[in-house]
Amino acid sequence: MKLLITGGAGFIGSHVVRLFVTKYPEYQIYNLDALTYAGNLANLSDIEQSPNYTFIKGDITDAKFLEDMFAEMSFDGVIHLAAESHVDRSITDPMSFVMTNVVGTVNLLNAAKNSWKDSASGFEGKRFYHVSTDEVYGSLHNPEDFFTEETAYDPQSPYSASKAASDHFVRAYGNTYKLPVVLSNCSNNYGPNHFPEKLIPLMIHNIQTNKPLPVYGKGENVRDWLFVVDHARAIDAVFHTGKPGETYNIGGFNEWKNIDLVHLLCQIMDRKLDRPEGTSAQLITYVTDRAGHDLRYAIDAHKIMNELGWQPSLQFEEGLEKTVDWFLANQEWLDNVTSGNYQSYYQGMYANR
Ligand code: NAD
Ligand code: DAU
Repeated sequence: MKLLITGGAGFIGSHVVRLFVTKYPEYQIYNLDALTYAGNLANLSDIEQSPNYTFIKGDITDAKFLEDMFAEMSFDGVIHLAAESHVDRSITDPMSFVMTNVVGTVNLLNAAKNSWKDSASGFEGKRFYHVSTDEVYGSLHNPEDFFTEETAYDPQSPYSASKAASDHFVRAYGNTYKLPVVLSNCSNNYGPNHFPEKLIPLMIHNIQTNKPLPVYGKGENVRDWLFVVDHARAIDAVFHTGKPGETYNIGGFNEWKNIDLVHLLCQIMDRKLDRPEGTSAQLITYVTDRAGHDLRYAIDAHKIMNELGWQPSLQFEEGLEKTVDWFLANQEWLDNVTSGNYQSYYQGMYANR
């Protein structure tokens, strides 16, 4: 099995690469990543010397590069995670989301389709797995509702619109060209390697450095949080046992209002940093709401649980403790990421393809 994983230097991708490299030593894993601000090879320093791992620096918006690479490498499967992933950035710069998430995904579909259809076995034994988000379903308003695989798409931000468009293209290639596709839509992840522009790592970092904790609006928005390693385990299950053409929703049945989550983080951090109880919560600062801020996401994950036997392994409080411990123990990672130095820091350690 020659497996291409895109976006493997990012948050979720690095956990997926690690899982596949260590669990499947007989597979050759190729990690294709452009190393944008969100990609960091330090996320993979523990497995970078593994004989079944290769890093390829490249940009999925470059169609010719992808066509040449697929022709040369004869991949058997693709797990596609490369994306622009931050909603706030999509509000200020939507076009980079169109380019990577939509154009980049279509480039990848074309490269896989063209190389596979000309191969001796055609599409037989091949798999194109597109990793997507629950944000494509829009916002829930009725407290009893959950996103199922049948929920109509209703994306509300430029980020979720770009992911929705990419999902449609993936399904269209499955329908039109019979490309063997499979998709999953996951809720909010958290854990080690999370880029500190996102809620949980940003709050941990700001508590540690005594900076204000910016809570958007009234902090009433609800997200459904899943430990990133559990998402990687779900991706493993979908890649190996998901039915072609199907979609699987992935989530933790773990809904938190942002303000409650920030208070919980403050309590954990007070304890870890030996601060009097209530110290960190004084940093909470309500700020202008995110434009078009989705109120609530909540995934119904019964399909993947019943059909593929996956379930989350960690309770939220345990996962959050592990996450805080990881950030406190990895100060150098955080310093490099927040200073923007990490690209030059690691420059030269890895040859470009
Ligand atoms: P991330 O921003 O941490 O990482 C994205 C990676 O993609 C980075 O390594 C970056 O360098 C790479 N990349 C970006 N543009 C590229 C390009 N043009 N060519 C090649 N590589 C490029 O993202 P993440 O949070 O790890 O999300 C990974 C995937 O999972 C995304 O598709 C995202 O939509 C999806 N997702 C994320 C979450 C979440 O909570 N973070 C939840 C559900 C689904
Ligand atoms: O649901 C899956 C999605 O989860 C993924 O597809 C996205 O890639 C990922 O970034 C995440 O999107 P969110 O917008 O939900 O995550 P974020 O961490 O940016 O924000 C979580 C909630 O916290 C959201 O309601 C906005 C709020 N927030 C966020 C930040 C960064 C704040 O109140 N303050 C902040 O500073």
